[in-house]
Amino acid sequence: MKPVKVGLLGLGTVGTGVVRIVEGHQEELQRQVGTPIVIERILVNNKEKRRNITIDPEKLTENVEDILNDASIDIIIEVMGGIEPVKDYIMEALAKGKHVVTANKDLMALHGTEVLEQAAKHGCDVLYEASVAGGIPIIRTLTEGFSADRITKIMGIVNGTTNYILTKMSQEGAVYDDVLKEAQALGYAEADPTSDVEGLDAARKMTILGRLGFGVNVELADVAVKGISKVTKEDIAYGKKLGYEMKLLGIAECEEDGIDLSVQPVMVKTSHPLASVNGVYNAVYVYGQAVGETMFYGPGAGELPTATSIVADLVSVVKDLRLGVNGKYMVAPYKEKKLRSDAEAASKYFILLDVADKAGVLARITQSFAKHEVSLESVLQHPNPLNLNAEIIIITHSANRAGMKNVLADFAELDVVNKIRSVYRVEG
Ligand code: NAP
Ligand code: HSE
Repeated sequence: MKPVKVGLLGLGTVGTGVVRIVEGHQEELQRQVGTPIVIERILVNNKEKRRNITIDPEKLTENVEDILNDASIDIIIEVMGGIEPVKDYIMEALAKGKHVVTANKDLMALHGTEVLEQAAKHGCDVLYEASVAGGIPIIRTLTEGFSADRITKIMGIVNGTTNYILTKMSQEGAVYDDVLKEAQALGYAEADPTSDVEGLDAARKMTILGRLGFGVNVELADVAVKGISKVTKEDIAYGKKLGYEMKLLGIAECEEDGIDLSVQPVMVKTSHPLASVNGVYNAVYVYGQAVGETMFYGPGAGELPTATSIVADLVSVVKDLRLGVNGKYMVAPYKEKKLRSDAEAASKYFILLDVADKAGVLARITQSFAKHEVSLESVLQHPNPLNLNAEIIIITHSANRAGMKNVLADFAELDVVNKIRSVYRVEG
């Protein structure tokens, strides 16, 4: 049978993994799709670069048109990264009737709707399993596994770098700056770690998951983002004392009153399955009205795990080719987007305050909570023997965001509150 020819855009970490899997698992792949799959051409920046894989030099090109204009190539795998020039290449490939598999969360979070519309217009598949949580098949899970259910909550540890940093801070009592430097030395964190540590990478992934999970046209701007760069070892230590682990969670909720999306450091009860996801691992917790609680765990990045998801998408495209049903994946968002207001969005909170240690302080603090209808679950006080101050750690019951904002505004004015040290959402 005629082989299916693939054009690969990029031969870095993930591209190398794609070549290894397509070549190394050829027998298994052929058994599933009934035809050989061949990587025909590979676009790179620099053909002369030394690579840790042996490639026929004739396959390498620095000119994308060699791939886009090759009529024998049916499928493009994009593993270059970034938005430009990738978006132009993908739009052109789709216009030429080539199917696309991509690992590009930036492109799919920011321009996913446009790319999918172009695909539908030209009867092409665009699959992007590897764009979220690398080796975990979470996109298939949401779109196929849970197609019969109504998903109301998705919580993800979808960034390995930050999970590695928080795990080290928790297990070794280390400070953020030291662990970040170590993560950079080990190659887990990038030289410029901003996108990871400030939650932007996770926000892009949650945009994609929210869109697919809820059938709503979620945009990146709908995700409230806070990273981990201000998390202290004291926050983590107090959390542990009260039975919580700190995790950077992407949280997407969808109820009758609307949707709410965020990425933020969260105190997760140790009994919750997400609390024990450590190191660079990722996990996505999904709550469906019918299925209840589920969780999916695995490597969120890396050459072979990520390439596994890409080649699985490739298999899907080739199966569609065989059946003649390409271009039918586009499920346009069908629900109206309504974001929850501060009065509608509710959660539990952890608050750490520096206060004066004298009579009546706790009464004035609790007065504020009562005034704004925020109910308290527990209060813990630590006197500081070196001065007349104390640290108070409060866990609230579920309270709406508007109420919490009012409480914190009161504290900013209260003379007995020296400092609002930290405020975190609580889950589990
Ligand atoms: P990478 O190692 O930096 O590789 C990028 C590749 O693209 C290189 O081969 C580079 O060529 C080529 N390239 C970049 N810009 C180019 C241009 N303008 N023209 C031609 N070639 C160009 O990146 P990666 O880590 O494999 O990541 C690729 C994609 O996968 C990204 O979208 C990333 O977010 C996503 N992803 C990565 C992981 C992971 O574990 N790394 C996990 C999930 C998703 P040269 O080799 O000649 O420099
Ligand atoms: N920078 C990402 C992470 C890589 O740390 O998880 C995978 O997208």
